[in-house]
Amino acid sequence: PAPGWSLGADVVVVGSGVAGLTVALRCAAAGAKVVVVTKAHLDDGSTRWAQGGIAAALGEGDTPAQHLDDTLVAGAGLCDEDAVRLLVTEGPDAVRRLIATGAHFDTDEAGSILLTREGGHHRRRIAHAGGDATGAEVSRALIAAVVDAGGHVPQEDEDASDAGTGTPAATGTETATGTETATGTSAGSASGTGAGAGSIEFVENALVLDLLTDAGGRTAGVTLHVMGEGARDGVGSVRSRAVVLATGGMGQVFSATTNPAVSTGDGVALALRAGAEVSDLEFVQFHPTVLWLGPDAEGQQPLVSEAVRGEGAHLVDADGVRFMVGQHELAELAPRDVVAKGIMRRMRETGAAHMYLDARHFGARMWAERFPTILAACRAHGIDPVTEPIPVAPAAHYASGGVRTDLRGRTTVPGLYACGEVACTGVHGANRLASNSLLEGLVFAERIAADVVADTEPAPGEPVPPAPSGAPLLASEARYEVQRIMTAGAGVLRSAESLATAAGALERLHTAAVEAHERDGKTAEPCVETWEATNLGLVARVLVAAARRREETRGCHWREDRPDRDDRDWRRHLVVRLTPHGT
Ligand code: SIN
Repeated sequence: PAPGWSLGADVVVVGSGVAGLTVALRCAAAGAKVVVVTKAHLDDGSTRWAQGGIAAALGEGDTPAQHLDDTLVAGAGLCDEDAVRLLVTEGPDAVRRLIATGAHFDTDEAGSILLTREGGHHRRRIAHAGGDATGAEVSRALIAAVVDAGGHVPQEDEDASDAGTGTPAATGTETATGTETATGTSAGSASGTGAGAGSIEFVENALVLDLLTDAGGRTAGVTLHVMGEGARDGVGSVRSRAVVLATGGMGQVFSATTNPAVSTGDGVALALRAGAEVSDLEFVQFHPTVLWLGPDAEGQQPLVSEAVRGEGAHLVDADGVRFMVGQHELAELAPRDVVAKGIMRRMRETGAAHMYLDARHFGARMWAERFPTILAACRAHGIDPVTEPIPVAPAAHYASGGVRTDLRGRTTVPGLYACGEVACTGVHGANRLASNSLLEGLVFAERIAADVVADTEPAPGEPVPPAPSGAPLLASEARYEVQRIMTAGAGVLRSAESLATAAGALERLHTAAVEAHERDGKTAEPCVETWEATNLGLVARVLVAAARRREETRGCHWREDRPDRDDRDWRRHLVVRLTPHGT
């Protein structure tokens, strides 16, 4: 649909987790005019649900080289070593800057940061906050910082170009349909060098739809669907010279996930429609220990952090046997894919629907002080971890792949960046190491901000109308159909047969919508639910295609029919780029 309103900015940041808000802060500090677009409210993304913490070589005796080694092992031969080296060497200072921004980590009485362990780490390396509420603290601190930096929701009568800085909005001239357009007349650079603080505006309740590009294929902004925001209700656009996707993950593609309801793969779907390269989508990480709430549990499920195992909890079967001992030198603290597989195997062997995590020996005080969030979640579901083992099973947790970027976060579309879970920077390979995700968001956000503000390219020209995708919107109920198909055919355990069944069912869903559109000229009513279902359908089809193609088992991609890792043929990435018509 044609945009009904328009804003102008130097850079649009889509998403308000650790990645998005760090990009916004750093760009604004360098003088750029930033618009942060978020699908619900600023704190509604995945970041605030992160429990364990942030991994960085901060402890005595630890080094980036050791962190690098652990990350490469977990990534099962597919990490980009240069990207990992940046992550682990720039990580400690990035965490210190986060602390300077206002985040409070747990410390001992002398003020040293307390560090815990998680799967795949050979050392205590995970900084945490509020015991097991690290993401909530990071989110709180970054939101406070962007508000302190002047971040606000623009008033309806506020001219977008007046919000800041003397740095004119990048697109310069008025937009065609704008009632609130940027009125800057020169094609300013976002560098803002010496211009003092830039500005940050928030557009909440805004689902990003498509990338705008100029005739030369350069990023020129995004279109949005905004719900119930006065004059900005409905479809509009933000014109900008750079767009940073920081939309998080796609866990909602499966029935049970640790991800919040907003994690519907919107950034990957946008990037695919825009012709950007997407890589490694088959590597979906299943977190081994998610609170088991019954066989039919759907939607976001409570996480039981790896840090619980890091502090000494044991995985046991119904007979109390520690089945991970002997399977890996790190037993319960093996990399996440190994533990998830160990649990699934034991479930099969014993016919059980779940395993147990036993941490009764922590005692009431340690549970209350170290893991208050998990304790409360368990008790809310009638389980008391102080007196009984916790029922757990794997559930979808993290997309190790995503929109392919270089080491500055640049995608293959000029002016389009990706940061955080939506991105595939190469640091995770076939299986992300625990607690590297918040770190990746921080480190690469800073690299992206530096690149955006240093950009001296001429401003993009007028956006050209996006090519019709040929794919009508799916009905909102299709979301649940996609989830059922994916859970049955492309979950922790996959085979050529299960994936072929999933591919066929997804194709039928897509074809039914196309045929109904061609027959009656009708498509589902455009709204958040139908866009989300459509995005889930698209990323699911690409994910399944990649999982079928990768005929081996590696990292978190587990093919029962191809149980071995095949370094001769498969030590390589699967990169996808859609043609303009979405094939
Ligand atoms: C956890 O706390 O177990 C999750 C940490 C992560 O996914 O990195």
